[in-house]
Amino acid sequence: MAPQRDAEVMNGDGQCGEELLAAQAHIWNHIFNFISTMSLKCAVQLNIPEIIHNHPQKPITLAQLVQALQIPETKSIYLYRLMRILVHSRFFGIERIQETAEEQVEEEGYVLTLSSKLLRKNHPVSMSLYLLCLSDPIMVTPCHFLSDWFKKTDELITPFEATQGMPFWKYFGDNQESGKLFDKSMACDAKMVMSIVLKECKMKFEGIMSLVDVGGGTGTVARVIAEAVPGVKCTVLDLPHVVGTLQGSKNLEFVSGDMFESIPSADVALLKSIMHDWSDDECVMILKRCKEAIPSKEAGGKVIIIDMVVDDKNKNHYESTETQLFFDMLMMVLITGKERTETEWKKLFSDAGFTGYTITPILGLRSFIEVLP
Ligand SMILES: C[S@@+](CC[C@H](N)C(=O)[O-])C[C@H]1O[C@@H](n2cnc3c(N)ncnc32)[C@H](O)[C@@H]1O
Repeated sequence: MAPQRDAEVMNGDGQCGEELLAAQAHIWNHIFNFISTMSLKCAVQLNIPEIIHNHPQKPITLAQLVQALQIPETKSIYLYRLMRILVHSRFFGIERIQETAEEQVEEEGYVLTLSSKLLRKNHPVSMSLYLLCLSDPIMVTPCHFLSDWFKKTDELITPFEATQGMPFWKYFGDNQESGKLFDKSMACDAKMVMSIVLKECKMKFEGIMSLVDVGGGTGTVARVIAEAVPGVKCTVLDLPHVVGTLQGSKNLEFVSGDMFESIPSADVALLKSIMHDWSDDECVMILKRCKEAIPSKEAGGKVIIIDMVVDDKNKNHYESTETQLFFDMLMMVLITGKERTETEWKKLFSDAGFTGYTITPILGLRSFIEVLP
């Protein structure tokens, strides 16, 4: 009787053994998702993408990689294992090398994929600092306290605040080194996104005489626009610890301030990766300040938002929706923000008194959204 009862317990939901094992593999895969992040972080900290890029012979063999990394030869077998998982996750490729015709030695070596090219620290639109910042213990530790946060009534004390003792933006003001890494990581992303924005929709900026980049960080977005759009005057508004010491130029100015209080006047107010940092009520406040800063739509006033529009119903984009939902969870852990569906965006715009909007989905996971007063 006993073995039969065990079998009933095992298959209590009527599943066959194969399905149970698949469910176990699913759980394991999710338990170990962090290994994927940490392996990639390790490769970037060791500077492997740049080393492969700079190596004169391509592909680079494991022995050559060990030598170029200047790590002990005894670490070779471990480096092989690190590279194996990163080949599996398509960050590196493996290619065969035919050394010389006489020797007929066939060996394998590593090559970069487009994703690891973007993780080279010297790539023009490198994402390496973005990875290092977002995988830093300062960002990751609060994730361990999410379930505690769910049980508390004060949702404004985020898991980040509960672990670091102060809100996210204040932390970066008080801890300069982390603040600088965060600003640089945002600048990485800004450079990358603007390279696409200018390619795909430069015309959206033509004719604009002035633009204010609200929460514009160290000014990467504004600098790109100031260089690309003739005659435009750009202002970057951000907190004092971010822009306090930055020097502007002929058509670029930095202003220290608080976007909840007032925003410098301009034809266009741009908000890149800002709205997803804040709750609905806070976003409506920011949008109202933007509306006060821009002229009427007849006079060319508009708000441009670069952020995600979550498409959680479309099952055809499983991977990109999952990444959007990762971001949404991160916003819950770190700050009071969230990623929004089109319906949620529409409500924000109408609550802040705007009359219309268009969404242009040209930025991969994010969209270029124009909102009219
Ligand atoms: C996620 S970052 C985005 C930076 C930049 N827009 C970009 O995409 O590269 C958010 C920015 O908002 C700024 N910020 C936070 N609170 C602010 C406030 N009350 N007033 C102005 N800027 C603020 C932060 O300092 C930070 O630079």
